[in-house]
Amino acid sequence: MSSGSPAAAALLRPLSFVQPTRIEYGPGKARTLGELVPDWAKKRVLVVADAFNAARVELLGLPETNHVFSKVKPEPDLPNLEQALDEARGFAPDVIVSFGGGSAMDLAKLVSVLVGSGKGFRDIVGVGKADPRRCGLIAIPTTAGTGSEVGARALVTDPVSQAKSAADSRHMVADLAVVDPDLTLSLPAAVTAATGVDALAHCVESFTSKRSHPLVDIYARAGITLVGQYLQRAVADGNDVEARAGLAMAALYGGLCLGPVNTTAGHALSYPLGTRYGIAHGLANAVIFPHTLAFNAPVEADKTSEIAALMGFGDDLLASAYRYCADLGIEMHMSKLGVSRDDLQSMADEAHGIRRLLDFNPREMGPVEIFGLYQAAY
Ligand SMILES: NC(=O)c1ccc[n+]([C@@H]2O[C@H](COP(=O)([O-])OP(=O)(O)OC[C@H]3O[C@@H](n4cnc5c(N)ncnc54)[C@H](O)[C@@H]3O)[C@@H](O)[C@H]2O)c1
Ligand SMILES: [Fe+2]
Repeated sequence: MSSGSPAAAALLRPLSFVQPTRIEYGPGKARTLGELVPDWAKKRVLVVADAFNAARVELLGLPETNHVFSKVKPEPDLPNLEQALDEARGFAPDVIVSFGGGSAMDLAKLVSVLVGSGKGFRDIVGVGKADPRRCGLIAIPTTAGTGSEVGARALVTDPVSQAKSAADSRHMVADLAVVDPDLTLSLPAAVTAATGVDALAHCVESFTSKRSHPLVDIYARAGITLVGQYLQRAVADGNDVEARAGLAMAALYGGLCLGPVNTTAGHALSYPLGTRYGIAHGLANAVIFPHTLAFNAPVEADKTSEIAALMGFGDDLLASAYRYCADLGIEMHMSKLGVSRDDLQSMADEAHGIRRLLDFNPREMGPVEIFGLYQAAY
C-alpha cells in the first residue's frame, strides 16, 4: 500500500462501531431463548411480529406473562408504529422481542425507546436523539436480508411526506440477537431472492462507499462471498439448510456494515419505489442494484472487480449483474412493478434529496443521472 493511496487514507478514517452485547447464532437457537435470558419465566415479554411469525410464536417458549403484537406490516408506516406503541403502553414490557424480518425488527427497536419516554417518532428521527430504553430488546430475524438484528437504525414511512425516515441511536441496538437460520426455511423463493440481494447491496454499497473502512470491509467481503455461494442455492431449494445458514450469516455481516458505514446510491434510489408504490425493500433494491453497481464501477475499479469475482459476474458488469438477479426470478422492470413513467422525474428529485446516503456514493450522481438510471431500470 503506497502512502497517500485511498487504502492508506482509509486507515486514518475514524469509525464508530456499535454492536449488540451478545449474538447467539445457530440452527435451532430460537427454541432455546428461555435458557439465554436470565429469569425468563418472570419477565413480561412483548413480542413484535408480522402475522406469519405471530402464528408460530409458541416456538419461542414465552413466559406466561406475554403479549404478542401481530400486526406488523411490510414496510411499516407511522400509523403501524402507533398501533404497536399503544399495545406496548398498555402492557408495560420488561423485554421486547422482535420476531420477523426488518419490518418487525425496526418497529420493535422504535417501540423499545419510545415507550414511556414521552417522545414520538418525529422527535428521534436523525442520529442520537432517542433516550436510553427502559426495557430489554431481543432481535430474532426470520428473513435473511436487512441485518437489522445487529444495527442501531430503524426506518418507517411517514404517510404525509411519503418518505422513509430513519432514526439511529445506540439505544436501539439489541441486548441480544438470536440468529437462527432454521427460521428462514419457510421463506418463499421470491422473498429469499429479494432479501438476499438486499443483504448483498448492504455489503457492496458499504464496501464502495466514500466512508468505507478497513474494519468494515472484512464483513462486506465475507457477506458478498456468502451471497455469491448460497443465494442461488437457497432460491432453487428453500430446504437447503447449508444455504439458509450461509444467507443468515451474510445478512448479519451486511447489518454490521450498515451501522458504521451504511449504504449509498442503491438504497437512495430504491426508497421512492417503496414509499410511493409499496414495492418491498428487497425487491426495490434488486431492481436498482445492477445499475448503481455499474455506474460506480469506473471510480471503484479494484473493489468492483473484487465484487464481480466473488459473485461470478462477467466483463459486461451491468448485463451480468442484471442477469444474475433476473435468474433468481426477480422482476427487474420497474414498469412491471406498477411504477408510472410520469413519476420518474419526481422520483429522481426525491432520491437526489436523500443526502444522508447519496453524499457518500463514490461517484457524484445528479438528478439527470438518477433519471437516466431509472429509465434504464424501467
Ligand atoms: N434497520 C435497518 O438497518 C434496515 C436495513 C434494511 C431494511 N430495513 C427495513 O426492513 C424492512 C424490510 O424487511 P424484510 O425485507 O426483512 O421484509 P419484511 O419484514 O417486511 O417481511 C417480508 C414478508 O415476509 C414475511 N416473512 C417474514 N419471515 C418469514 C418466514 N420466515 N417465512 C415466511 N414468510 C416470512 C413477512 O410476513 C412479510 O410478509 C423495510 O421496512 C426496510 O426499510 C431496515
Ligand atoms: Fe436494505
